[in-house]
Amino acid sequence: KSNMHNSTITDQTKLQGNVKRYAAKQAALQIIAKPLLANNTVKIVNMPAVVDIKPLLKLTENLGGTFSFSDTNTVEINTCCLTNTIATDDIVKTMRATILVLGPLLSRFGHCEVSLPVGCAIGQRPIDLHLKALEQMGANITIHAGYVQAEAPDGLQGAHIIFDKITVTGTANIVMAAALAKGTTNITNAAREPEVVQLCEILRDSGVVITGIGTAELSIAGTGGKLVDIVPFDVIPDRIEAGTYLCAAGISNSTVTLENVRPDHLEAVTGKLEEMGFDIDTTENTMTIHPTDTIKPVTIVTQEYPAFPTDMQAQFMALATQAEGTSTIEERLFENRFMHVSELQRLGADIKLNGHTATVIGPSLLSGTDVMATDLRASSAMVIAANIAEGTTQVHRIYHLDRGYENLEKKLGDLGAKIERLSE
Ligand code: EPU
Repeated sequence: KSNMHNSTITDQTKLQGNVKRYAAKQAALQIIAKPLLANNTVKIVNMPAVVDIKPLLKLTENLGGTFSFSDTNTVEINTCCLTNTIATDDIVKTMRATILVLGPLLSRFGHCEVSLPVGCAIGQRPIDLHLKALEQMGANITIHAGYVQAEAPDGLQGAHIIFDKITVTGTANIVMAAALAKGTTNITNAAREPEVVQLCEILRDSGVVITGIGTAELSIAGTGGKLVDIVPFDVIPDRIEAGTYLCAAGISNSTVTLENVRPDHLEAVTGKLEEMGFDIDTTENTMTIHPTDTIKPVTIVTQEYPAFPTDMQAQFMALATQAEGTSTIEERLFENRFMHVSELQRLGADIKLNGHTATVIGPSLLSGTDVMATDLRASSAMVIAANIAEGTTQVHRIYHLDRGYENLEKKLGDLGAKIERLSE
């Protein structure tokens, strides 16, 4: 145990009530990079107060930009007068999403250096597709001393990019690079995640001509280097954070209402909860999950949006431990995203792992013990499981959790969870 980290204790509880606000990690796409394309001060509302945002703002500052908060969740970012085009490793290594500065910086300045993101617990997570696409747009790229050094002295040129794999940050990087490039960029096999859609919509509302928004074929007419006046925008509610509370409610088989959500972003998740027997009522911006007589087993395959998200896989595995029967969960996006299996087993779950597929045999009586949070979503799976485990569970290394969840213990506490943050 280190003295630096925190741990959370939680005890058996039945959750009940409302959760009102979500805006977290996936918002990174919106925060860091768009201002880099802007001529004006960009106002962002509903900014998440999570640890992962800090490196993004720090990086903005390092590049010569400024930011100020008018309240906890509203920030204004100005990058009109950037002085530096080097994103150093001390920041990039703390957060992979900082690679999102590569496209906009290169397109705007014709050169930049960005530290290569370091490996990550859930798998390799390369950036080869980002680099290949930028090369197709005319960039010369070399990797030197851990940095991507990119040059395009005459600016980037529109190109037809065909992504071999669907990549969320890769699509966002190229959309932003294309926004300032000369000519039109067409992207085939683009990511359709709501965060990418919002990025495109904001650029469109700010005057960049983009078609195909929300589809796998995007077309972006570049401004030829002219910076854009970016309209103020609200960060969309975090669908993974919301989905996590649905699983927390599901495992305790209780009624919980989520307010200020986008149910349309959660259809794959609610579809699986319904298959498990839960009734879910939705309005345009609320969702209520109701208890079920029997939690049924489920079959899940993680895929790109609009299919079932990899970022909800661990939470559903926790929930599947309480289903009456055998669930299967196949992970297709990240090769190593099963580290929560051994921790759930420590709590008493019956899970067999075979390659990329986990078989969960339920229901298991879980009993509290010490477990380790291994990545962001695995951490929330531990907390979800701890809610119905007998006795007390200590979840160590929850710094992972703070990267993407805003006040998780307060929100779960308000629902009735017996949860406490301790110093370790
Ligand atoms: N890939 C490549 N080459 C590339 C880029 C991606 O092979 O150049 C592969 C990856 O290794 C992976 C797949 O393509 O197998 C998809 O990766 P993607 O690029 O879409 O992932 P990402 O953009 O790095 C974002 C989220 C992740 C989320 C994934 C998948 C952010 C900041 N991160 O990552 O979020 O799991 O999309 O939806 O938006 C999390 O929230 O816990 C999290 C890890």
